Amino acid sequence: MSKILIAANWKMNKTDNEVISFLKKLTRNNNIISQLEIIIFPSFVSLITAYNLLKKTRIKLGTQNISNKEKGAYTGEVSVSMVAPFCSYVILGHSERRIYFYENYKDVNEKIKLALKFKLKPILCLGETSNERKKGLVLKVIRNQLNMAIKSLSAKDIKKIIFAYEPIWAIGTGKNDKPEDTNLISSQIKRLLINRFNLKNEEIKIIYGGSVNLNNIEEFLIKAKINGFLIGKASLDYYNFSKIINLIKKQNDKKIFKPR
Ligand code: PGA
Repeated sequence: MSKILIAANWKMNKTDNEVISFLKKLTRNNNIISQLEIIIFPSFVSLITAYNLLKKTRIKLGTQNISNKEKGAYTGEVSVSMVAPFCSYVILGHSERRIYFYENYKDVNEKIKLALKFKLKPILCLGETSNERKKGLVLKVIRNQLNMAIKSLSAKDIKKIIFAYEPIWAIGTGKNDKPEDTNLISSQIKRLLINRFNLKNEEIKIIYGGSVNLNNIEEFLIKAKINGFLIGKASLDYYNFSKIINLIKKQNDKKIFKPR
């Protein structure tokens, strides 16, 4: 059975000392169950600290970004080969990178290829703006983003990617998508990939991100046909995050939520 994925995207938060204090508490938590794949995404600066605290645990480490260049004279950039020894995952195509740092899906495509080359699993973010949603363009937008991001990838590559549906209007706003709508988009993403790459339903992993928190996660667990969550704000406070993990554990024990 595939695991429920909980990706904690800490964005530009937490100093090294704060990372240490959070991870010390998290690694003492007996509730980290084998059915969960918890992945922590600290800043580049804290990757080695986090790696040393997590290496003997089941908790995985990821990086929030990599450069689209493999190496060379690119001041301020961090290459995939610098982070690959410590990380298992990388977040790519996040809307904050696209909006504030002008990344496009051509860059994302290059980053995915580099990530795969260095055996990092990409979490590929896709999602529409509120205007696009109002105009009924969600599927068109997602299809375009997807086509650019996965250009010239193989079926074998696609199976290694986690697809994160992250409506831009839901990120950091406190307004989450309805699980029913998430199901609609996630089934469309699956259909596109199944038709194009001749894959089985269970070979495609889709997670949801956008204001997931303690108040709405239960509804998602009950209704959403997804493989997990990308959590920003609600993953920053240890006690809040551990309550989310406990809720997932409870639903999982009741067999309500099964990754599909
Ligand atoms: P949020 O962030 O949970 O704070 O909305 C999610 C994300 O950006 O991945």
